[in-house]
Amino acid sequence: MAMKQEILAALQQADGYVSGQELCDRFEVSRTAVWKVVNQLKEEGYEIESVSRKGYRIVSCPDCITSERVGSLLKTRWAGSTLSYFDVTDSTNTEAKKMAEQGAPHGMLVLADCQQSGKGRRGRSWSTPPGTSIAMTLIVRPQLPPDRVSMMTLVMGMAVAAACRQVCQVETQIKWPNDIVCQGKKICGILTEMSSEPDAVNYLVIGTGINVNLTEFPEELKDKATSLLNLTGSHVDRAALVAACMEQFEHYYDQFVRIRDMSLLQEEYNRLLAGKDAPVRVLEPGNEYSGTSRGINDRGELLVEKENGEIVAVYAGEVSVRGIYGYTG
Ligand code: BTN
Repeated sequence: MAMKQEILAALQQADGYVSGQELCDRFEVSRTAVWKVVNQLKEEGYEIESVSRKGYRIVSCPDCITSERVGSLLKTRWAGSTLSYFDVTDSTNTEAKKMAEQGAPHGMLVLADCQQSGKGRRGRSWSTPPGTSIAMTLIVRPQLPPDRVSMMTLVMGMAVAAACRQVCQVETQIKWPNDIVCQGKKICGILTEMSSEPDAVNYLVIGTGINVNLTEFPEELKDKATSLLNLTGSHVDRAALVAACMEQFEHYYDQFVRIRDMSLLQEEYNRLLAGKDAPVRVLEPGNEYSGTSRGINDRGELLVEKENGEIVAVYAGEVSVRGIYGYTG
């Protein structure tokens, strides 16, 4: 860890003041070196008070998701253990794929403050305006057959829902497979892409976009999307939310890989599922039908009970849930 990130972590973890001498001793550097780092942090927007004979105290942090800020908050073993941050990029998924091709490690997280051509599912676009949102892509290298990969996206959905609860006290739901919704509107989308051989995965990139402190939405999205700020009325520390997502992901991922399916997570996922036991409409190409959502099975497929009592396991496909995104069914 670079010294700047470590000093930042020491200041953030401290209850009150941290003496300059303590920092010098810990990092085996001079007073001037510590003072220089503190000044750099101040220039980056950290408000740091220095009081003689007491030391330094962090008063406030800028709302940014730089590697240093996120790294100083992370308590994970491997998720986010390597970080790469961009002020602006086309898409963190595209960047992550390039890095994975070049050998980036399992657990590397790519972050961006703004995306110029963010990608959504089904060829749609995803907007990440600067200073307000989270765009992040995690590289994982699981030992999994390719047909089990779609479950990893469900695992990230659970992690984001848990992180929103932990950091913002917001109870969200998951619209299968992996939109995070609250009050019928979307706050997060996940796009997983993979590189694989016929029977093994090389790597996966799990891209997550969260509407955090956004307040303005284009007309066509007003009924369908919202943000954590809109829901809570409070500004959310994006870096704390990223760190919580990584911690939660690590927790759920470890359970998932034990059995390589959703059996340990299925019950919790189904508790979060929007529209469980309610009417849904399945939109498969050339095959649309209605039924009742019965939750996921251990393969992460959505079980839909048709009117004739037949239960269909939906593997991929668009499912409309009554009351979500303005759908009235
Ligand atoms: C969707 O709901 O359609 C999925 C949206 C996924 C958006 C995220 S933002 C970070 C990552 N980079 C991208 O280009 N897309 C994903």
